[in-house]
Amino acid sequence: MYKNLIELFKENEGKGAVGAFNLHCFEMLPAMIKAAEEINVPIIIQTSLGTAEYIGFEPLIAAVKALAEKSTVSVALHMDHCKDIEKLKKAIDCGYSSVMYDGSSLPIEENIKNTKEVVAYAHERGVSVEGEVGSIGGEEDGVVGAGEVADPAECKRIADLGIDFLAAGIGNIHGKYPENWAGLNFEVLGKINEATGDMPLVLHGGTGIPDDMIKKAISLGVAKINVNTECQIAFAEATRKYIE
Ligand code: 13P
Repeated sequence: MYKNLIELFKENEGKGAVGAFNLHCFEMLPAMIKAAEEINVPIIIQTSLGTAEYIGFEPLIAAVKALAEKSTVSVALHMDHCKDIEKLKKAIDCGYSSVMYDGSSLPIEENIKNTKEVVAYAHERGVSVEGEVGSIGGEEDGVVGAGEVADPAECKRIADLGIDFLAAGIGNIHGKYPENWAGLNFEVLGKINEATGDMPLVLHGGTGIPDDMIKKAISLGVAKINVNTECQIAFAEATRKYIE
């Protein structure tokens, strides 16, 4: 079934976090859904704006919806890290079931104003919204972050706008982690969790984070984990397996 993230989180309550996997081309799609079916878990398929524009919004969404409707697991299609409100509105109108407005590089007041606008537009249309405070280090499809650690008080202000889940910078990085990486900042994650109550939190940069840190993050409110590179390898293998 094709669902938004509010429904996916409800379905997955008490079972850990839901995986969000970045799709980069059509070929990955059937293998991603089959992999989720094999272990019987809901799956979030997410794209950058660049991927959506490369494949085309309509064909991409039509393919995800068609496979989701035939699937035995719940599938959401989420727009990852989008800074362009008009493009987010297009994604919503075309049928994405969930979107991320990333205003993390803006002054907090502007992030609040824009996030509010996206929440109003998305919720009227049954689409869930992820907000961001602080930033994820590194670069992903042109979105660059310095890796600022989020301020729990600012996280609360964004959470109170009615977003459905919140990404917060806690020392996580997109892409490869450096040898001397200090690890996730659990002290700040704990404070964000305390400040935002039941708000599901999102851990970006999940590919290089060790399992024990992922488990600890889940115990501190993380409900969505974004992963990319290793999945691409796994999905490529899975695709081959289904082709052979
Ligand atoms: P990785 O860069 O660790 O694969 O994380 C993906 C991600 O956070 C997408 O937003």
